[in-house]
Amino acid sequence: MALIPQEIISGFCEHFGTTANPDIYRAPGRVNLIGEHTDYNLGFVFPIALEMACYVAIAPAEHGSLRIYSHDWSDEASVPVAFIADAKASGEWSDYVIGVAHELTKLGILVRAANVWIASEVPAGSGLSSSAALEVSTALALLGSRSIEPVELARVAQRAETQFVGMPCGIMDQYTSVFGREHAAIQIDCRSLEHQYVRLPDSVSIVAVNSNVKHELGTSAYRERVAECQEAVAAIKQLNGDVKSLRDVSLSFFQEIQESIPLVPRKRARHVISDSQRVLDFAAASRANDLDEMGRLFVASHRSMQYDYEITCEEIDFLVDTAIKLPGVYGARMTGGGFGGCTVNLVAPGQMSHFQERLDSAYRQRFGLAPAFYDCVPARGAGRVDLPVSSTRA
Ligand code: GLA
Repeated sequence: MALIPQEIISGFCEHFGTTANPDIYRAPGRVNLIGEHTDYNLGFVFPIALEMACYVAIAPAEHGSLRIYSHDWSDEASVPVAFIADAKASGEWSDYVIGVAHELTKLGILVRAANVWIASEVPAGSGLSSSAALEVSTALALLGSRSIEPVELARVAQRAETQFVGMPCGIMDQYTSVFGREHAAIQIDCRSLEHQYVRLPDSVSIVAVNSNVKHELGTSAYRERVAECQEAVAAIKQLNGDVKSLRDVSLSFFQEIQESIPLVPRKRARHVISDSQRVLDFAAASRANDLDEMGRLFVASHRSMQYDYEITCEEIDFLVDTAIKLPGVYGARMTGGGFGGCTVNLVAPGQMSHFQERLDSAYRQRFGLAPAFYDCVPARGAGRVDLPVSSTRA
């Protein structure tokens, strides 16, 4: 669903029974090209921000509360602004919004009473960061004309998820939503929180394929992986006291000492350390327009997630294994947290329609389910939406 400002304004005015013109903020979803589960291990990631975004319309109100309406959930939540500092997660969609308000309040930033109307183009549960898009667009909306450093904006949005919602995610999704840029991927160093933009070859299309499955296991397995990486760090620390995270472990040192790490944390560490290195190799291949090498790295990353990190599933492996046999496909891999969601594919533009037809029919035949295809063109990061004069109400 592509949203246009006029629909957002009408939705807002109808729901809140007002003619007040809201301000609108947009924050994009993302697709990660390579470097999965490396962010909370302080390694490298290589995502692009997408045109698909979450939109938040906001206008000040006199009722003393944040009234929050989700167009996608057809549901309203409300919290008196005086209670935001003491608010607790409820397990509902509104946690992501109230969590951002709570984190801003903790920074001493006053959250004012307002009507808030939210709609998103980013499909939930797809591994394309619908939560980060919601958090970042909410943070911008609640800040209004007040500004904070972009890195701080990403961190506040991340804390809404780690501290308030209680999901121990890394910084990649929120950072990408803030720093996205047209025509470029973002190579993020999750330790220094610095980034560089890398141009992608023009001669390849990036397409995400949504398996339309999201296995429940996802959230608990994510926590488990975070803990297993910490176990690996603890084991490596015995041999080198300077190691604080898997980022501090080079691939060559890991290869020397891996036998002394228990099997499961060893496999997790092997994925993280090798995938972080694959980010650097992928960026170099991208700069050199080496599509074959980019594709090879994609597949290596997928196998590492499949066998070492063990976060793929039957549907996703099928999509990857089928895609890489099709003409014009350089590589395919799962993207995002795992256990369903999307694959990301590097496809020669001339083969795109053939690719979609073949994958669609194979997937339907095997699982009785239709996949969805999203053309992924690197888009700008979050910001206020400038409204054409004709969109505003008098
Ligand atoms: C989720 C998390 C990110 C990252 C990815 C896996 O999207 O929110 O921080 O860990 O999974 O790369």
